[in-house]
Amino acid sequence: MNKQDILNKLKYVIYPNFKRDIVDFGFVKNVEIDGENVEISLEIPSNNPEVAKKIHSEILQILGDKTKIHIKTPQLENETKKSKNIAPNIKNFVMISSGKGGVGKSTTSVNLAIALAQMGKKVGLLDADIYGPNIPRMLSLTAQKPLVDESVMKLIPLKAYGIKVISMGMMYEEGQSLIWRGPMIMRAIEQMLSDVLWGDLDMLIIDMPPGTGDAQLTLAQSVPVSAGISVTTPQLVALDDSARSLDMFNRLNIPIAGIIENMSGFICPKCGEHYDIFGKGTAIELANTNKCDVLAQVPIEGKIREGGDEGKPIVFFEPNSAGAKEYIKAAHKLNDFLEKAKGKASNAEIQPIKH
Ligand SMILES: Nc1ncnc2c1ncn2[C@@H]1O[C@H](COP(=O)(O)OP(=O)(O)O)[C@@H](O)[C@H]1O
Ligand SMILES: [Mg+2]
Repeated sequence: MNKQDILNKLKYVIYPNFKRDIVDFGFVKNVEIDGENVEISLEIPSNNPEVAKKIHSEILQILGDKTKIHIKTPQLENETKKSKNIAPNIKNFVMISSGKGGVGKSTTSVNLAIALAQMGKKVGLLDADIYGPNIPRMLSLTAQKPLVDESVMKLIPLKAYGIKVISMGMMYEEGQSLIWRGPMIMRAIEQMLSDVLWGDLDMLIIDMPPGTGDAQLTLAQSVPVSAGISVTTPQLVALDDSARSLDMFNRLNIPIAGIIENMSGFICPKCGEHYDIFGKGTAIELANTNKCDVLAQVPIEGKIREGGDEGKPIVFFEPNSAGAKEYIKAAHKLNDFLEKAKGKASNAEIQPIKH
């Protein structure tokens, strides 16, 4: 067996929880062959021991149990913090995820970003939902295309309601359908981070495609993600998917800021009565199991949907509505979470001075 034969075999090892194999992801760093002995070195982005164990046992199954395997993982929190950052002017990257589409991920991203900007933060919003980029519509930006700064050959983000915005939807014509393959997704995500003139930002809110896939992994490998937020609706079926997205944060070493429970009850605009359409409060249990917070419980509100369709986000246009208040609450909690994480990081730097 030569090196290529071995790499071909390793292509059968799928990276746990993702759809691609360890060779395709570039995790196989070295293959040594010395007669009968084979030695494989890998580097993976997760320090979850289960992930390494699964890869280890699958390689043994494929290449025989005499194979020597070294798996390097990002052991220390500091090491991951220091990891690659292709957009170094951005202080915090916040990944907004959901197990499935249609739960209100984009609505949340838009309103959270605006609420943070209203708190005086420098905020960017990256619509990385390659399959359904609808942030431009939600911000009335469909007619605009970002210009290119010729001197540096970078895209200038659009501005709306105090935030800078770039969307995959601005990169290709409306109605044009693309079939996204792994390497294309990686390139697109990288470009939206490094080929855009974001300037100095306190935070970049990133609206991810639903589920756990190449986009999430690429993002985690390209920048140090400081917080993950999972958006869910209270039905139990949606919670199952959310559990998977929280699990993904853990596997990628992304600190979990919390869960946003969307469509959490309906307040009748006529009688003011509260109706529990999908159930309410089920996210709390999920938060407890994952040792994180429920950042907000956003009710179903006509104004939220209208605001989305008309490009008039509720936090900006109806700041006193029940929904807007929840988004504003979530923005404060997220900011506290990031501040605390920063505090921890700077403490970690101070600690080594021991006498
Ligand atoms: N709390 C809510 N109340 C009313 N409509 C909502 C609410 N949250 C989301 N919507 C509407 O539901 C639809 C899906 O939301 P969206 O944010 O696009 O979901 P996702 O990005 O997860 O696919 C949109 O039409 C949006 O306006
Ligand atoms: Mg969306």
